[in-house]
Amino acid sequence: MKFARVTARLDGLGSEKWAVHIEGKRRAALGESMIFLSIGEPDAPPPAAILEEARRSMHAGRLRYADGRGEPIARKALAAHYSRQTGRHIGENQIICLPGTQTALFAAMMTLVDEGDEVLMADPYYATYEGVIAAAGGIPVPVRVDPDQGFHLKMDALERAVTSRSRVLLMNTPSNPTGAVLTRAEIEQIGQVCERHDLWIVCDEVYATLTYGSTVFASPFDIDRLEKRTVVVSSISKSHAIPGFRCGWLAASAEFCNHCTPVTETMLFGSQAFLQDAMAFAISNHFPEIDAMKQDYETRARALVQALGNGRKVSARMPEGGMFVMIDVRNTGLSGEAFAWRLLEEEKVVTMPGESFGAGGAGHLRVALTVGEQDITEACKRIARLAERI
Ligand SMILES: Cc1ncc(COP(=O)(O)O)c(C=O)c1O
Repeated sequence: MKFARVTARLDGLGSEKWAVHIEGKRRAALGESMIFLSIGEPDAPPPAAILEEARRSMHAGRLRYADGRGEPIARKALAAHYSRQTGRHIGENQIICLPGTQTALFAAMMTLVDEGDEVLMADPYYATYEGVIAAAGGIPVPVRVDPDQGFHLKMDALERAVTSRSRVLLMNTPSNPTGAVLTRAEIEQIGQVCERHDLWIVCDEVYATLTYGSTVFASPFDIDRLEKRTVVVSSISKSHAIPGFRCGWLAASAEFCNHCTPVTETMLFGSQAFLQDAMAFAISNHFPEIDAMKQDYETRARALVQALGNGRKVSARMPEGGMFVMIDVRNTGLSGEAFAWRLLEEEKVVTMPGESFGAGGAGHLRVALTVGEQDITEACKRIARLAERI
C-alpha cells in the first residue's frame, strides 16, 4: 500500500535518539539498578490546588466540546499574562489553546512553512524540532552554537545561514538541551536579522519560568517591533509539573491566529474545557510548591557542577535556565554517544548523548535535573570515575 510522503520524511526521526534511554529502561525492568538522568519529566507533584480545580470543573459539567481557539477563561488568563509580560495590550484573539507546546509547534509550522522552505534553529536543538519542520515539508537548517560561548545563538552565525528559502527561525529559550537563556540584547540583534530577511520567529518558551541566579528571561514577543513576526509556544507542562494535562498554547498576532485556526480546528476540534479551566487557574495564581520545585532544580544543578568540579576530563557549567545540564566530555576523546553507552554499561548511569540533539551537541552528555541531589552527586562520581579510566 502507498503512504503519504510525510511518513517517509518522519521515518527515523524518533526512537534512535533515545536508544541509550530505552536500553536503560530494558535493564531496569530486568532488575538492574540504574540512575536515570535521561528524561525531562518533572519529579515533583503538581500543586494539589490545580488538580482540585480540574476535578471541580469536570464535576461541574465542563465536558462538552470546547471553543476551537480555547475556552474564553483560558485565553483571558493568557492574554492578561502576556499583557503583563510585554507591557502592551495582548488580546484574547492573539491566543490559541492547544494540547501542549508540541502541538503548538506543529500548528505553527503547518501555518508558516511550505514545502522546501528552510527553518533555522540553534544546534544543539530539542529532539522533536527536525520532525515538526519535516512534517510541514520544511528543511531544518542547524546553526551551530559554541559550547565555549555558553551555547548562545549569535547574530552573525544566523546571518551566514540565511538563504532566499529561509522562512522561520525556531528559537528555544531557555534551551533544552543547553540551558542557554538569550538576553534581551541578543534577541534584539537576532530580531534585526529576522527583520532584514523577513523571517518569522517561532519561540519555544516552555521553560520560561525556570531561570537561575541573576538570569532574566526575555522573549522576542516583549519587543514591540517583533510582535507581528513572533509566535510564542508554551505550556504548563514544566512550569507547573503537569505534562499529562497537555495544556499549552500559542501567542501571536491576531492575523497569525486567524490563519492558524483552521489548521488547529481541522486537527483537534477544540481541547478539554475542564483542563483549560485548571490551566487558567494555574496561570492566574501563585503556588509555593512551584517556587520550591524551581529551587530544587537550581540546587541540584549547583550540586552537579560542584561534584564534577572543573575536572581535567569532564566538566559542566551552571545552566542559565531550564531543566538540564550539558556535561562536556570532549577531553576524554570519546563522542557523547560512546561515553553515554560506556556509562550505561560500566557505571549504570543513563544519560542522553549530546549528539541526539544535533551535531552541535557532540562531545557532551545531557542530564536532566529531575532526580534528587543524592543521586545526582552519586552519578557525578561515576561519570568522573569512568572519565579517569578512559
Ligand atoms: C524544548 C521543549 N519544547 C517542547 C516540549 C514539549 O512540551 P509540552 O509538554 O508542552 O508539549 C518539551 C518537552 O520536553 C521541550 O523540552
